[in-house]
Amino acid sequence: MKRTHTCGELRASDIDSTITLCGWVQNRRDHGGVLFIDLRDRYGLTQVVFDPDEVAEYMEQAQALRAEWVVQIVGRVRPRPEGTVNPKMATGEIEVRTEKLEILSHAKTPPFEVDDYTEANEELRLQYRYLDLRRSRMQHSLITRHKALQAVRRSLDEMGFLEIETPILAKSTPEGARDYLVPSRVHPGSFYALPQSPQIFKQILMISGFDKYFQICRCFRDEDLRADRQPEFTQIDLEMSFADPDDIFAVVETVMQDMFKAAIAHDLPIPFPRMAYAEAMEKYGCDKPDLRFGLELQDVSELVKSCDFKVFTGALERGGIVKAIRGPGMCSWSRKQMDDLAKLVAIHGAKGLAYIKLEADGSCGGPVAKFFTAETIAEIAKRVEAVPGDCIMFGADSKNVVNPSLALLRNHLGKALELYDPKKFNFIWITEFPLLEWDEEKKEWASSHHPFTQPLEEDLPLLDQVGDNHDLLIRSSSYDLVLNGVEVASGSIRIHNSDVQEKIFRTLRLTEDEIKERFGFFVNALQYGTPPHAGIAPGFDRLIAMMLGYDNIREVIAFPKTQKATCPMSEAPSPVDEKQMRELSISVRKKPSSKPSEQD
Ligand code: AMO
Ligand code: AMP
Repeated sequence: MKRTHTCGELRASDIDSTITLCGWVQNRRDHGGVLFIDLRDRYGLTQVVFDPDEVAEYMEQAQALRAEWVVQIVGRVRPRPEGTVNPKMATGEIEVRTEKLEILSHAKTPPFEVDDYTEANEELRLQYRYLDLRRSRMQHSLITRHKALQAVRRSLDEMGFLEIETPILAKSTPEGARDYLVPSRVHPGSFYALPQSPQIFKQILMISGFDKYFQICRCFRDEDLRADRQPEFTQIDLEMSFADPDDIFAVVETVMQDMFKAAIAHDLPIPFPRMAYAEAMEKYGCDKPDLRFGLELQDVSELVKSCDFKVFTGALERGGIVKAIRGPGMCSWSRKQMDDLAKLVAIHGAKGLAYIKLEADGSCGGPVAKFFTAETIAEIAKRVEAVPGDCIMFGADSKNVVNPSLALLRNHLGKALELYDPKKFNFIWITEFPLLEWDEEKKEWASSHHPFTQPLEEDLPLLDQVGDNHDLLIRSSSYDLVLNGVEVASGSIRIHNSDVQEKIFRTLRLTEDEIKERFGFFVNALQYGTPPHAGIAPGFDRLIAMMLGYDNIREVIAFPKTQKATCPMSEAPSPVDEKQMRELSISVRKKPSSKPSEQD
């Protein structure tokens, strides 16, 4: 037997047994001829002792051991001498007195130490991911991920869902990103698209009668990457026939509860609260509010419409709004700190950040206080629930500037003023998103979610009015699940009527030919008896990252890509040889660089 125990297993109850351990050398300490080695595997660390009085024949080999060598040790479990017991280590009561050593593998000196204390830059960590993944922090991430994955499968299986795999070599599904394409060898000039999601396939499975489908699937999207976005990522994709949003919510709430319990032993209270999109925009300025803290935005346009501050009245005259937010205890913030906040909101186009300070003595301060009567300030303070010692900040502009800038400010203040417990999990359903959004750059309507989303019944007639009215709000039967201000799932009731579906495609300015070419098979399928159906897809990587308190989903993915969509370890993507290109009938216009670099 190669090993009888793991490196995290031995306890005082094992004392005097003869055991065999295998693992990596974490470190070696020499105490006057007696050698101590911490042996590591994914279960933990065990202290191993080489005493020249006991194993003279192995001392030379033991002296040579270096970090990351792989060894097998046969020895006897002994209590640690008094005063050397380590209560922080699971195996801290014992040590193993070596009787036999076998070196299974040598190792080069690693580019960074394999422990949880050494910081290495991410590029290097990704290049040597196999070493990075030996650290207990990364092992904990992947073990948590595994537990969550098993819990999701169990939970959905228990609720009667069938796991069905759909193709990876597929046809484009519109989820708003660019496709990754795979050239066909047998059909020169034709390409498969890697799925941005299994959206169309899962809807077709509903048409086929598989009324409860799920898949833990990989999605591929060629889009600008951020900390919470990878070019390939994992969704818990699901779809149900004869279901309304309440059914979907109940299923997802159960899955979340089971997953959090199994993965991090956290009890999530369900059901989650719900809020309509319009209310979220009004109160928080965004569709993914972080509800771990208050600080609701207040529209004070009415209160300031006849004040003397031209910035406010000017914005209102141009059809804009003025919104206010409370800054608890921020009366003491310096001019520089306030200027920094103004710079922050400038990201979303805000031209400034007016503020009024409510001094403890009842007076008002700040550069614009003079433009308002005491009554107006008192009324605004009442609306935002500000008290002496607070500061009130304002955004005045079009809705499209004020909402995102104050939403950003609100999140910033929540963090800076430590208004919430970072360990808390606050879920909320946001419902009734707009069906369409006007794309100012492309000068066309685009689906807010995807083109298979059902318009809200009472808003259906509005579809005929879509034209140049870019402010027209048609609500849809769609929903997002938001956790601590992050969108973790998105779904909708689907269109199951091919006429409505074609109408949506036409509103999106797809021509008959385009509809036929891209979605003909799907529109056709819809005409063969389609049950009403609905679905959703929680983003698995984001959920695991949030469970473990990481902002970056790369921390919970075994082999993630960099911001430039490269893999520093395998050096993907890479050029292919001429022969392979010829077989695929492909030629490249620009000569590929030999190695993709982060400076590209
Ligand atoms: P959507 O495109 O909103 O919906 O994606 C669903 C969820 O997937 C996660 N997600 C991502 N995670 C990591 N990296 C990415 N690049 C990335 N993009 C999305 C998010 C998001 O909420 N087919 C629909 C679902 C449906 O309607 O059933 C879809 O894919 O957490
Ligand atoms: P100004 O009159 O431009 O010097 O601005 C006076 C104050 O109003 C400064 O504190 C600016 O930051 C703020 N301010 C300017 N434009 C806006 C705006 N659109 N919304 C909110 N505050 C603004």
